[in-house]
Order: sequence, then C-alpha cells, then structure tokens
Amino acid sequence: MKPFKFEYRVTSHVDSNDLSSVKAKLEHEIERIKRALSEKNYGSLYDSVYLPHDEHLFGNVKKVIQEKQKLSPTVLVVIGIGGSSLGTIAVHEALQGLVYNEINPLLRVYFAQTVDTDSIGDLQALVKAELEKGNNVLLNVVSKSGTTTETIANFELFLQLLKKFRPDDWHQLVVTTTDKDSVLWQWADKNNCTSLEIPKNVGGRFSVLSAVGLFPLGFLGVDIDQLCAGAREILKNCVDTDIRANFAAAGAAVAYGLYQQGYVINDLFLFNPAFESLGKWNRQLVAESLGKEKSINGKLVESGILSTVSVGSIDLHSVGQLYLAGPRNILTTFVSIANNTNRVGLPNWPEFDAIVPNLQGKSLETIMDAIVNGTKFAFTQDERPFISIEFPEKTAYAIGAFLQYKMVETIYLAHLFDVNPFDQPNVEKYKRETKRILAHE
Ligand code: PA5
Repeated sequence: MKPFKFEYRVTSHVDSNDLSSVKAKLEHEIERIKRALSEKNYGSLYDSVYLPHDEHLFGNVKKVIQEKQKLSPTVLVVIGIGGSSLGTIAVHEALQGLVYNEINPLLRVYFAQTVDTDSIGDLQALVKAELEKGNNVLLNVVSKSGTTTETIANFELFLQLLKKFRPDDWHQLVVTTTDKDSVLWQWADKNNCTSLEIPKNVGGRFSVLSAVGLFPLGFLGVDIDQLCAGAREILKNCVDTDIRANFAAAGAAVAYGLYQQGYVINDLFLFNPAFESLGKWNRQLVAESLGKEKSINGKLVESGILSTVSVGSIDLHSVGQLYLAGPRNILTTFVSIANNTNRVGLPNWPEFDAIVPNLQGKSLETIMDAIVNGTKFAFTQDERPFISIEFPEKTAYAIGAFLQYKMVETIYLAHLFDVNPFDQPNVEKYKRETKRILAHE
C-alpha cells in the first residue's frame, strides 16, 4: 500500500503536453537517484536518498540512544538552526503533538534555535532549575559545519550550566551531531563527548533522516524504523519512469509548468495544526534549494519559488479570501489525514442546532473532512490549481514517506530550473558578514 494518496487537479493549467515535455529532462535525474540508491554508499551529491537504507547509521544512532537513556534525563535540549533542527521539530510535532511536554513530564524537549534573549533566557532558567533539582539534562548540539554562530552561542550557554552543576560528568550529557572533522567534532573528541556523524555530501535541509533527526526523534520515542521504512517505500515510487505515476516527478512537473505561467508561490496547506512545522521544514527545503542567482552553467537566472505555509482550517479565516479571489499565482498542496485515530465527538444538544445546525453528535473529524472537501470544491470551481495529499493515518511511516517525497520532488524541480539544489552560497554570505561584524564589536 502507498504511504499516502497523491492527486493533482490542474487540468486546465497543465496539460499532458506539459508533462510530456519535461519527461525526457526528468528521466536523467531519475536515473541519478536510482544510481545513488544502487551504489549503497555515500559518494555523490544525491547521498541523502541512501540515508533511510543505512543500517550502520541506524545501529550507531540506536546505540547512543540506549547509552544516553541510562542517564534518565528529564529534559532534552536540541540546539541547532535551519536544516539542523527544522526537520526534527516538524516530525516531533506532527507525530507527538503540540502539547507533548505537558503530557510527558518525564522527558520534555526544547529547541534552541536563534539567539533570542527572551526565549533562551527562559530556557536557561528552566534548565538551571532542573539541574538544581538533581535531574539530568541532555544537550544535543547539531551543526553540520560546526561553526554556525547562533548554534555555538546557545551551546556555550547551556554547556556553562552543565559544567557548573555536573562538574565531573557533564561530558556524558552532551551529544554532538556534526561533520566528521569539523571543529565541533574535534572539540567533542577532545572532551570525551559522544559524536554522531553527518555524511559529508548530505546538506542540512536534506539531513532529517540522518543522525540529525534520527537521534533526537528516536530519543523522544518516535518510531524511527517506521519513519525510514516509509521513506524507503516512497523512494520506489519516486524513481518510476512513468512520471504520471511518480509522485515526486509529477509534483515537480506540475509546479514547473505552473511556474512558467506565473505561479511563483507554492502554498503547503496543512489540515492539522501539528503539521505547521512540516510546512516550515518544506519552506526551507524549497527556498534554499531553488532560490538561486545563477544556473548550473553560471547564467544569471534569479530563480525560485516562494514556499508558504497555511494551516487548515485556521488560515481559511485569515488568507482564504486572498487564495480564492486574489492573484492567480499560487499552486496549493493540501495535506490531510483520512482517518484520525483520536476520536473527539460533540455532545448531542438540540438547542445548539439553532446556533450552528448539523453539528450535533458529530465528530471533529467529520467536521474537518467537510471543511477539507468544501475548500477543495471551492478551489475546483474557481479553477485554482491544487495537489492533494492524504495520509491514511498520522503515522511515522506516512510522515517519513512525505519527507522523502518532498526532498526528491525538490531535487527534480531544481533540475527543471537548471540550478544546484545542494548549495546555499547566499546564506553563507550572511554568516560571513555576521562573523565580520562580531569581530569588530
Ligand atoms: O540547509 C542548510 O544548509 C542550512 O539551513 C543549515 O542547516 C543552517 O544554516 C545551519 O547550518 P549548520 O548545520 O552548519 O549549523
């Protein structure tokens, strides 16, 4: 069974000729992904597709999870930014919900991303209080380069607390996830901290299924076997040479065809508030991979798709009007769940029928389904193009498949745009400038 259902409704915008015209171009790229899969090692820029097959990586991550579980930490702080944390946050929230910390007081998780005085200050106080009580706090510092300003600044702050309250064994409470031989790796080695390696060719936004995501997610109890099983399953589909059957190729072909007609915005419209961070993960993936000044051959292209995030049904009450009446420049992808395992039903109170009719005794799922179908109907009537993705249930298997499909779709899109999806030279520019300014402070 497919991990999710995928359909596109763009017939009046992108016809069979458009799909056929990109077929030949995509076939090359499909072959490259196939080759990266068959090579069963790390050796090309397409390495991220090998991650869910890498048993060595799995064994290593699970070993470290077991080792650190013995320390029974009550708080896990994941320190990282961009590709080093967005995927973890996305999967954690999607599968474990938005009130995880409140319902799992035995192990809470916090993410230190930017250097915001207020939130990091609050988190510092929380970690301090935990250490004062004699509880353990595990720090997972994640940085591919090992030199990102925000990440290292935040790490120093929390490390300072650990060293103060656990002077003898603080090193056991630190796990670094970084490139082998980065300066951070060397620091961890010198200080007897455990390190998990990010394969050299796997960039931040393609790293969620490496130790970057698997360690913290597995530590929190996410079924990482199923997450990777879903990714492996969808990869079989994503290398199908029939591009209408291949979700990633069809999605890329549709987005590319529409882009050429001025559809420069791709909105991921998620009908579950816990999926919002999946949207933010995707936003980074699409923006950093496609937003390029130059083509592969150095031609000025200034290409890119603006990837936005909407949460259903909340954002129907904020941007729905624009989506159904505004400029025709948005391709929407709706994401919904067919069967929610949680059952929440309304009471049967006839007097409320006079306020909003036809709600009595219904489940929230039934009401949400009506909203999803109503929205798609309105988009169809108004000839607004959209793709529909429906998870049979909210499972690690389906989420793993979704992440993998999006990563391959982005690689295919970059190929159609003729840009390199794996670099981010302009982000590096801001990083360099920040360091230069700090040197003069
Ligand atoms: O996708 C990317 O490459 C970036 O978003 C990086 O993940 C981000 O800049 C953080 O870099 P690093 O992991 O080196 O700390």
